[in-house]
Amino acid sequence: MRQDKKNQVIWHNATVTRTRRETQNGHRGAIVWFTGHSGAGKSTIAHTVEEMLHQAGCRTFVFDGDNVRHGLCADLGFSTADRSENIRRIGEMSKLFVEAGIIALTAFISPFRADRERVRALVAPDDFLEIYCHCPLEICESRDVKGLYQKARRGEISEFTGISSPYEEPAAPELVLHTGSQSVEACAAEVLALLRGKEVIGGEDRQGR
Ligand code: ADX
Repeated sequence: MRQDKKNQVIWHNATVTRTRRETQNGHRGAIVWFTGHSGAGKSTIAHTVEEMLHQAGCRTFVFDGDNVRHGLCADLGFSTADRSENIRRIGEMSKLFVEAGIIALTAFISPFRADRERVRALVAPDDFLEIYCHCPLEICESRDVKGLYQKARRGEISEFTGISSPYEEPAAPELVLHTGSQSVEACAAEVLALLRGKEVIGGEDRQGR
């Protein structure tokens, strides 16, 4: 018999389904995809939203460069091909989290429209919410929390998004946050409203507040 690796992998149908998990959790699973320049506030807002959701009794997880580029994607750099592979892996991982009934919040620059659209296509339409953290590059650069813009300007880092590598704005994101002028709290409130509007979460949290 031919040892076909592909045919040896048999999909196991779980009896504990996504719907059952979601019923138990009291909310839907979804991917809340933050995109934007480095320093635009993606991680800060994702973690603020996560804190609010967690306090409301929701099951959540934030994926960002700090936990992904050190492990799952530690072998990847910042070339176009590596960024695409980074986003592909994060997309597949987030899809599994949606199946688990969890609200997966992702904070990656994800500069290429095609890569983001590929993730969108992995799940049902209402399961992928693209949130563009729109912040003028001058503001991101003036924040320069990690000192990387300065290094990129000096040519010490190549292919830096916004300086020497492109960022493609989302064509039709579910939400645009003006993170250069709005407060973190105001942005987080907008995300929560979106999640309610898309019925990822209910109007009230599980404690009925
Ligand atoms: S992505 O383009 O593949 O989505 P990702 O969000 O994982 O990027 O990582 C971006 C973070 O890596 C930035 O916030 C910054 O801290 C760091 N970084 C290091 N080198 C670069 C680079 N050349 N371009 C952009 N970000 C970089």
